Amino acid sequence: MSSEYSEREEVIDYASHFTTRGGRLYQSSTIASPYPLPVDTPENERDQFQLASLAQVLGANYTGLFAEILAPQEAAKKVVIDLGCGTGEWVLEMANEFLHVSFFGLEIVPIVPNRNLPENVHFEIHDIGERTRWPDASVDIVHAQSIFMAVRDYSAIIHEAARILKPGGLFLSGEWKYSPSFHPGAPGAANPSEDVPGLDRFYRALNNALTARGIDVTVPSTIRQRIVNSGAFTEVQSGEIPIPLGGWKRDDAYHRIGIRNRDHLLRFIKTVRPILAASGVSRSDMTEIQGQCFSELGGVSGELGGVSGELRGVSGELGGVSGLISEYRLAYGRKI
Ligand SMILES: C[S@@+](CC[C@H](N)C(=O)[O-])C[C@H]1O[C@@H](n2cnc3c(N)ncnc32)[C@H](O)[C@@H]1O
Repeated sequence: MSSEYSEREEVIDYASHFTTRGGRLYQSSTIASPYPLPVDTPENERDQFQLASLAQVLGANYTGLFAEILAPQEAAKKVVIDLGCGTGEWVLEMANEFLHVSFFGLEIVPIVPNRNLPENVHFEIHDIGERTRWPDASVDIVHAQSIFMAVRDYSAIIHEAARILKPGGLFLSGEWKYSPSFHPGAPGAANPSEDVPGLDRFYRALNNALTARGIDVTVPSTIRQRIVNSGAFTEVQSGEIPIPLGGWKRDDAYHRIGIRNRDHLLRFIKTVRPILAASGVSRSDMTEIQGQCFSELGGVSGELGGVSGELRGVSGELGGVSGLISEYRLAYGRKI
């Protein structure tokens, strides 16, 4: 069941939303979602960076279809829903661009701002593994970004989107690929197990650990097919957006994105250590994998021991393995 945030609820229910482990903030273990990552500031900053880097590479927060679907229409109130909205950045930015549209961000824990919100922004606590409160054919766009770990059954999300979308409405999903990727134009690309054995080991271990927790790691590469299989969508499209990873790209703006992306991934590798440990990866294997990843990404091994600010000073001199990218996979379709 959904509920609107209120200051009062946030104070009273803190313990039912959150728990701390190893100095990081997580969803409370009483919450049914399989989501394994922290929901604290460092993790939220990583999400915000990913959003900003996509907007920079794409030149916008949305595809051209958004403007078409959200064009003002007399007597038709437009509604957009963002599933697993995190700190609500996407909702807030989009709501600022489409002032006549109502934006709803659904999130399982209260990590969004709840004061001084624009009139067209609403945040609600909701488990996106459950049915939403919207009636059939009442929503214009359902946006689902980086949420495959939030549910055990991603196809159920597509079915729920199909239920609430108006005919012609858009379901748009975006997920990061969880394996080493190389830019299609990169020279010599690429055999991950030979070119980046550390990253290859890391992602294999992570995918095994997520699978052990009941998370379907095939989702990012199968969303397009799932949209098609639902039989509820037409004009189904997909695409890959490469975000540089490491300092190999010489163009100034992309070089900066690559360095920040690298720093976030190095921090992420530390973040998920407990998840890998729980799946049986030994401490010494983890330290070895982490060291390999640092050198493949152009970090330095001295950074391994730090706690906070450990990534400062890794800035940009070392390029890492040429051609490495993070790949963002988009898939979308329009409700029949
Ligand atoms: C990787 S973050 C992505 C946030 C945002 N969509 C973005 O792209 O920046 C995933 C978010 O999903 C939320 N989440 C996890 N399980 C959920 C669930 N079952 N229902 C709603 N939100 C969930 C997490 O708390 C987290 O904020």
